[in-house]
Amino acid sequence: QSFFTGVVALDGPSGTGKSTVARQLAQRLGAQYLDTGAMYRAATVAVLKAGVDPADAAAVASTVSRIDLRVSTDPVQPSTVLNGVPIDEEIRSPQTTAAVSAVSAVAAVRTQLVAQQRDLINTGPTVAEGRDIASVVWPTAEVKVYLTASEQVRAARRAGELDGASVDSVRADLRRRDVLDASRATSPLRRADGALELDTSALSIDEVVTELYELAEQAARVS
Ligand code: DC
Repeated sequence: QSFFTGVVALDGPSGTGKSTVARQLAQRLGAQYLDTGAMYRAATVAVLKAGVDPADAAAVASTVSRIDLRVSTDPVQPSTVLNGVPIDEEIRSPQTTAAVSAVSAVAAVRTQLVAQQRDLINTGPTVAEGRDIASVVWPTAEVKVYLTASEQVRAARRAGELDGASVDSVRADLRRRDVLDASRATSPLRRADGALELDTSALSIDEVVTELYELAEQAARVS
């Protein structure tokens, strides 16, 4: 039984180290790890598998309403299973990444996945990461942090993860997704009220995890 019984909401754009940090923090806190981006990616895999145009919002909503999506919240072994089939590799494919902004902009998709995310968070202490955790999914989170990093640092980090990709092409793709994610009508990417902004440009993963762990300790002390 860990001292931390609440929720950590970690939001921010990609390339900030958010996923790695969230997983490690969940392990240290003995909490569940919820990767909401993986859920939007899984919905996108379903759309692409069905041959549906990601820009056709009505068809996207109807396809996603029929999926059976199971995610494991074990920080050591996260997994995403769509209609009984593990799709942990497919959710990271370039095709999925290219279409996920369109799918995640559909309001009905967000309503459905947010409801599922709340059900998962309700089952125990959780480190949840995404774009709208503090603003929409769980505004009462005990710890709310908005991670940022300079565009150059984020592009270099993402290029390091995708072998063979040039920093320039990754930077162009990041910029395109940032604009789409921040400008959509439903739950645009932004720092929520009450969320602490943490610039990770000059910090190691360990330093960020330690900082967040201390915030969780403080939150547990005052509650
Ligand atoms: O964090 P990620 O790169 O796996 O997220 C994939 C996409 O899903 C990203 O382009 C934005 C979207 N997303 C979202 O709209 N809301 C969330 N809570 C998480 C991700």
